[in-house]
Order: sequence, then C-alpha cells, then structure tokens
Amino acid sequence: MKNSEFSRHRRLRTSQTMRRFVRETDLTVDDLVYPLFIVEGENIKNEVSSMPGVFQISLDYLDDEIDELVSLGIPSLLLFGVPKEKDEVGSGAYDPNGIVQQAIRHIKNKTDQLLIIADTCLCEYTSHGHCGVIEHQDVDNDKSLPLHVKTAVTQAEAGADIIAPSNMMDGFVSEIRKGLDEAGFENIPIMSYAVKYASAFYGPFRDAADSTPQFGDRKTYQMDPANRLEALREAASDIEEGADFLIVKPALSYMDIIRDVKNQHPVPVVAYNVSGEYSMVKAASLNGWVDEKAIVLEKFIAMKRAGADIIITYFAKDVAKWLQDN
Ligand code: PBG
Repeated sequence: MKNSEFSRHRRLRTSQTMRRFVRETDLTVDDLVYPLFIVEGENIKNEVSSMPGVFQISLDYLDDEIDELVSLGIPSLLLFGVPKEKDEVGSGAYDPNGIVQQAIRHIKNKTDQLLIIADTCLCEYTSHGHCGVIEHQDVDNDKSLPLHVKTAVTQAEAGADIIAPSNMMDGFVSEIRKGLDEAGFENIPIMSYAVKYASAFYGPFRDAADSTPQFGDRKTYQMDPANRLEALREAASDIEEGADFLIVKPALSYMDIIRDVKNQHPVPVVAYNVSGEYSMVKAASLNGWVDEKAIVLEKFIAMKRAGADIIITYFAKDVAKWLQDN
C-alpha cells in the first residue's frame, strides 16, 4: 500500500507540542469545586477514616482552608454541615444560625474570591438520616419541600452564591426558585442535583457527613442505576423548573449519562466525582498500585470529554497543584 492510501494518524502525535496543539479537551483549575465538611464545635480537624486526606473541620479551621483554596486559584467550594444535634425534621438545616449558615457568613467576610455553593438537603440534620420528613416509613415529598425551601433561603441570606439542592424530591427546583425569588434572591442560581442515582459510591460520604439512613435506603427518591431515559426526564423537568446548572452524580460509572444530558441541555453540566470514587483511587495509590496523579488527571479529562463543564471533587487541591506543576 502507498502512503497516500491510508491515514497516518501518528502524524499528529509526533511531539509534545504537536499533541498540545491538537488536543480537543482541556482541564483547568477553573473547572473545579472543592467539597468541605464543617462540623459544629471547636478545634476539630478529623480525618474521615474512609477518605484519607479529607477532613471534617470546625469553623476555627476555616481560614486556613480559604487561604489555601484562594492561593491555588480554585474558584468554588461546596459546603456540607455536620451538626451536633439532629431531630426528626432536620431543624439544623434551616436554622439561620446553623453550622452551614455560620460557615457561609465567615467565608463571605473573609473573601470575595470564592463562589460558595450550599448543598441543600436534610440528611445530615435528621435523626433518621433521610433527605426529608418521614411519613409511613418513607420520605414524604410535599411535606419535605417547604423545609428545603427554608434551608435554601437561609443559606442565601447568609450569603451563598449558588444553591445546590441534592434531596431528589419532585418539584424541588421550582419550589426553591419561588422561595428564593420571593425572598429577593432572583439572582442566585440553582445548581440542581438533577440526575442523582441511588449509589453505593456514596458510602464514604455518609461517614464524612454522618448521614447514613437509620432504616431502609434512598431508592424511593434517588434513581435506579439501570435507567438512562429517566435521567433525561429528570434533567428536562429541572430545566423547565428553572435550574441553571445540572449535576450528574456519581460521575465515573455514569459517563454516558453526562454525555446524554450535555447533548440535550445547553447549560453548564456538572460531574460529581463522589466519595467512593475518591476512596478507591486513594486506596490503590496509598498501596502503590497506581500512579495517583496520572490516574486522577486522566479521569478528569475523561469527564470533560464526556461533556462535563465543571467537576466537584475531593481531589480539587491536588489537581490544582498538579496543573501548576505541568
Ligand atoms: C446529600 C448528599 C449526598 C452526597 C452529596 N449530597 C449523600 C447521599 O445522597 O447519600 C454524596 C456525595 C459523595 O458521595 O461524595 N443528600
């Protein structure tokens, strides 16, 4: 065969500069969101046993975190609260002086360089660990909604830049949108956990957030991992209800869904690289079985290629440092 009769794909791979020149996808620090667990109390910095390198911190450790994130150029953080007291109705979530509301005020006072995303859910605050109020052994959708609205409004009042409802109740985007608008926050966007599967990959998070359900599971409100069309229905109703961003969660086992959602909706799509996905890579790295930096950068470029615009990840600080080194 003559040269002209077949393609020489390797021509575009001949040097590092050539490869850079033709690269289709990039990963930058601007894509990253760092999740943070704020615990009530003082002088607490607890490493989460199932998530090496991830800590629950009390408010007095927040300044160090803010300085580090700002100096690394990470644009955004996602806040979760771990309260001292829990009850049946998750009162701590919508207490104007709750732990997340305090943390938001603290960060706002210190910097305007970080977008504060508030996770809006009740599961860290309920004694039963579910994401809403319980009636007849299940989460009651319509009784839970007003509590999620209250949570979102108190988070916005404290200064949150973006509201991220993760509770998977039907109608949560429109109800929260209405609540925010009525309270004068029509400019605060909603980053909806639109497509959230009932996943075993959340296991380590539930240690970090102390939010393991005390009975049953979340399968009546989170999605069945077998379903793809249902993801498109979830995303479509959230867009109709006013969502500004769509989250797909988890990320790595759901790359097809990220692509589907991206193809259908011209809004920023967010991949949540969840706790179990973090812990698996961490464990293998700590054993010396894989090259952590190479693996992590590869999986994030893959998420971008799949269609993610933004990535929520416990690796955000490492990635920011690695990108600086490169
Ligand atoms: C709260 C919430 C969860 C996660 C984010 N928000 C846990 C859950 O639904 O059980 C999981 C994040 C992770 O695993 O990193 N509803």
